Amino acid sequence: MIDLSVDLAGIRMKNPVMVASGTFACGREYSEITDLSKLGAVVTKAVTLKRREGNSPPRICETPSGILNSIGLQNKGVDCFLREDLPFLRGFDIPVIVNVAGDDIEEYVAVSRRLSEAKVDGVELNVSCPNVKRGGMIFGTDAVAVAEVVSAVKKAIGVPLIVKLSPNVTDITEMARSAVDAGADVLSLINTVVGMTIDTDGFKPGLATVTGGLSGPAIRPIAVRMVWQVAQAVEVPIIGMGGIVEARDAVEFLLAGATAIAVGTANFMNPSAALEIIEGLEGFLRGKGYRSIGEIVGRVQA
Ligand SMILES: Cc1cc2nc3c(=O)[nH]c(=O)nc-3n(C[C@H](O)[C@H](O)[C@H](O)COP(=O)(O)O)c2cc1C
Repeated sequence: MIDLSVDLAGIRMKNPVMVASGTFACGREYSEITDLSKLGAVVTKAVTLKRREGNSPPRICETPSGILNSIGLQNKGVDCFLREDLPFLRGFDIPVIVNVAGDDIEEYVAVSRRLSEAKVDGVELNVSCPNVKRGGMIFGTDAVAVAEVVSAVKKAIGVPLIVKLSPNVTDITEMARSAVDAGADVLSLINTVVGMTIDTDGFKPGLATVTGGLSGPAIRPIAVRMVWQVAQAVEVPIIGMGGIVEARDAVEFLLAGATAIAVGTANFMNPSAALEIIEGLEGFLRGKGYRSIGEIVGRVQA
């Protein structure tokens, strides 16, 4: 037997494979076609204090090796999440991590406190959404603002705090250190990379918001590089993501120093991608003669 289990600051997972926020909604639709109970954990779409409709369409465009999105934090609000989605997700006996967004520190704190009181397994602070006018990436690209929101939320909750970093910065290690010094128990990276497409017939941008967030295999080398840099800069566990499609991609992140990984855009192409990656990881470790996943974390010979 290969031991795939990991512990993320007290969040115990039977394997290191999670689904990335915003690419799995709250799991309901996927549960009809894939077995959620086999996942390491579910990370929900961002939840805000009140219901949000998100941005106007078009808000998704296909690009070479990825997609550009500007969904803009569409969700039903925390009350509805707690009433309808959390009880549903609880039925699968896997950790439920809830991605939290807000316009200001007060909103991040209010939502996180409600979730902590409801005993979710972890709160993931989305200080890195590039598709909103307030909050989001505005916090995640400023080391002082990151520290302020992280320390305010940390004081308000009693469950592990994950901080999701933006790649749209000059020095990711500065943001990582700032988040950890302010109380982050785990870091997750990367969120999407700001991009833009233009329709060369209509001369119009592909997205109604003009710019959006790029995800998928196109961003994987950026993500692996950032995970590797952050792993040298801080001591907390890292959840690596960005363009993971198959098991070998996940192995890259683990070798770079991630303790766990998340599958995002690949879910849209193959709803069983995460489950196939779990099997593939086990096969990879067996083939190399390892007995546990921890044996390869951070083992890149760079
Ligand atoms: C359609 C879409 C919606 C997303 N929504 C969120 C979100 O609500 N909160 C968040 O932190 N990240 C969100 N993300 C970012 C992903 O969780 C992930 O960080 C990013 O897509 C990189 O991983 P990938 O290349 O495997 O998709 C979203 C990504 C996509 C494609």
